[in-house]
Amino acid sequence: MSQPLISVEGLTKRFDISRSIRDVMTGKHPQLQAVADVDFNLAPGETLGIVGESGCGKTTLGRMLIKLIPASEGTILFDGKDISEMDGAEELAFRRRAQLVFQNPFDALNPHFTILRSLTEPLRNARVPKEEHLGRIAEAMEMVHLPAPEHFLQSYPHQLSGGQLQRVVLARALVLRPDFIVADEPVSMLDVSVRAGILNVLREVRDRTGLAAVFISHDLALVRYVCARTITMYLGAVVEDGPTRDIVENPLHPYTKALVQAVPIPRVDQSHDPLPISGGLPDARNPPSGCRFRDRCPLVEARCAAEVPRLRDVGGGRRVACHLV
Ligand SMILES: Nc1ncnc2c1ncn2[C@@H]1O[C@H](COP(=O)(O)OP(=O)(O)OP(=O)(O)O)[C@@H](O)[C@H]1O
Ligand code: SF4
Ligand SMILES: [Mg+2]
Repeated sequence: MSQPLISVEGLTKRFDISRSIRDVMTGKHPQLQAVADVDFNLAPGETLGIVGESGCGKTTLGRMLIKLIPASEGTILFDGKDISEMDGAEELAFRRRAQLVFQNPFDALNPHFTILRSLTEPLRNARVPKEEHLGRIAEAMEMVHLPAPEHFLQSYPHQLSGGQLQRVVLARALVLRPDFIVADEPVSMLDVSVRAGILNVLREVRDRTGLAAVFISHDLALVRYVCARTITMYLGAVVEDGPTRDIVENPLHPYTKALVQAVPIPRVDQSHDPLPISGGLPDARNPPSGCRFRDRCPLVEARCAAEVPRLRDVGGGRRVACHLV
């Protein structure tokens, strides 16, 4: 494998949560662990899917990767350099190279800005010379298959459809010619009829530009459509990692098995069955001892409560965190 573009080690995020009167009296500062000891590498040009139920920590992980929020513990190396130590010109360069594509295109754009202004803003912030702006915008609009004539660029967000807005949001990330994007549920707010179009644009952009991407979704069918490799997260921790095809055809972790069973027909415009496991995610403020999945696992054994299963290499580019694998 080539030198990773991103290397994540021991990444953990804890949020302070509100204190009860009892906490105040006893001087406690309760915390919630949203991301727990995550390790992975991302090669240049690689597209990595991150999949898991709502609340498992996907967005928190994505926000740390582009330095929108700091980690509580652990490191993120970008091209070998710790992003928490970057400042000045180095940080500006990182912020240009690493971009976020927002989940909700209806919120992502300022309703009072024309499309042209929304696309110019990041170029200005990144101090790209003014004479390059229009060329960069035309290039990005072409990549997302949007017309760049004057009347389109002078329109406002409310005049566009959801699919067009999400293409503008993607173009806004691409004007900076990034090496890495985090796409957080980029189609979940869109009508199913336009989802495939946006996913195809993402695939084309990746193939044309060679950018690396983390594609976050609760939906394995979408991840399968876009990503060669996938990580499954459960309650903040990585439970499985491997080539997407292997994970879908032969999931090893009991939680991934449940996710795969909920996607019987892997089409992006198909509704899914509910997860074939009982209950929901446990309370992240008070995770189960041992294996975090044990409350819902059909294969649970006595040692699952006592020992945390480590994420282990099981060959074939796969890692799994389960005592039985
Ligand atoms: N700023 C915050 N303060 C306190 N808790 C937070 C904060 N942001 C997220 N959390 C909690 O961290 C956990 C992970 O949240 P996160 O948004 O990362 O999950 P997610 O996998 O992206 O979920 P979804 O699929 O619903 O978007 C949840 O328990 C959430 O309530
Ligand atoms: S470690 Fe135990 S509880 Fe956890 S997934 Fe494996 S069998 Fe299930
Ligand atoms: Mg999220």
